[in-house]
Amino acid sequence: MKVGGTVRPPGDKSVTHRALIIGAVAHSRAELVGALASADIRSTARALRSLGAEVSPVRTGRVVTVCGARWHRPRSTINCGNSGTTARLLLGALAGQAFEARLTGDVSLRRRPMRRVTAPLQAMGATVTEERGDGLPLRIRGGTLRPLSYRTPVASAQLKSALLLAATVGNVPVTVTEPVRSRDHTELLLAHLGFDIHVDATSVTLLAPAADWPSLPPFRLEIPGDASSAAFLVAAALLAEGGELQIEGVGVNPTRTGFLDILSRMGGVIGLTNERALGAERVADLLVRPAELRATEVDVDEVPVVIDEVPILAVLASRAVGETRFHAVGELRLKESDRLSLLARNLRNVGCRAQVEGDDLFVTGSDAPPVGRVDTAGDHRLAMAFAVLGTVRGARIELSETASARVSYPSFFEDLTRIRVA
Ligand code: S3P
Repeated sequence: MKVGGTVRPPGDKSVTHRALIIGAVAHSRAELVGALASADIRSTARALRSLGAEVSPVRTGRVVTVCGARWHRPRSTINCGNSGTTARLLLGALAGQAFEARLTGDVSLRRRPMRRVTAPLQAMGATVTEERGDGLPLRIRGGTLRPLSYRTPVASAQLKSALLLAATVGNVPVTVTEPVRSRDHTELLLAHLGFDIHVDATSVTLLAPAADWPSLPPFRLEIPGDASSAAFLVAAALLAEGGELQIEGVGVNPTRTGFLDILSRMGGVIGLTNERALGAERVADLLVRPAELRATEVDVDEVPVVIDEVPILAVLASRAVGETRFHAVGELRLKESDRLSLLARNLRNVGCRAQVEGDDLFVTGSDAPPVGRVDTAGDHRLAMAFAVLGTVRGARIELSETASARVSYPSFFEDLTRIRVA
């Protein structure tokens, strides 16, 4: 196919979750411009309404308003749906609340670990009761919290953000040190709102809340385009046979754009123009042209900044010359599906060479047309990554479902069709 035109990815999922939750705990009125309207975000909005905040309907193209209030015990179990960010960030905010809440999620979310978050929250003073071991459903009762200095066993922005949100609600200092720095949207947003935040290499410390907290002056926040969603469009343009694609308003926070560095090593030159500040973040427009790709190595230190892009990078690696190695990507087993096994298995299903060895993924490129059936396991990023692979000449890929795109990028399939030119 050839690509052309201009496209704008939907609002950033991570930033939208954080803006909603911080807006809902602040005694203030927040207007969120460019917020993502997707299933995961609706899970967060619903949960916050059940806790006492007013959140306007989350619809594409509409400003979302959040009126925060003192939270109360929810009348029923909070269902976080498919959204790990909803569950883990809410656990943090609930740790500072003097009532009990029960959280659950869909089948995929119930298999994901929560102890990595609940253990340090318990060390801060929250009480957690598990029902089925390490995961949802569980109950959390918050209250008066103690300060904490914590070294996380994994680089996880959800874990780091849960602790920062607990500190925010509980009004206590916290320091989180990660093995490698994960995405930093929570600390950027809190600093933007006047919190005293210090960052030192892989540590972040929340020292003190904004003046008059939990009251905040009303605020309006513009949300960048989601770099992880944009990555699928970038990939489609790189695999195309001609043309060029402009992708506007993409968040270019360096803790999210690791895939651009990896792609440039693979021979994909992506132009960044019009870089500017937006809210607490930075955005730019991307210009992408088709490229001949070559294999690369993705190192352990790079993984946290490309964690959501490994599926699409693996798909690109299957069209590159040589063998690409993704080192230490075991965290992929704990995402919306076991992405590590499913990536390798599905790549093999469509005729590519891919294998998992320990926590490493190896993918060998080929220019034969990919043909076969892909089991997405209901995972949005697998569905979108293999849909992009389905755009190459001669491809015949049958996806087990496409509805999961609504989790993070509801208009993905329309956009993928729209960027195609005759
Ligand atoms: C996210 C953090 C990452 C990422 C997820 C969103 C966030 O998860 O995979 O899609 O918004 O904080 P981990 O923190 O578990 O790595």
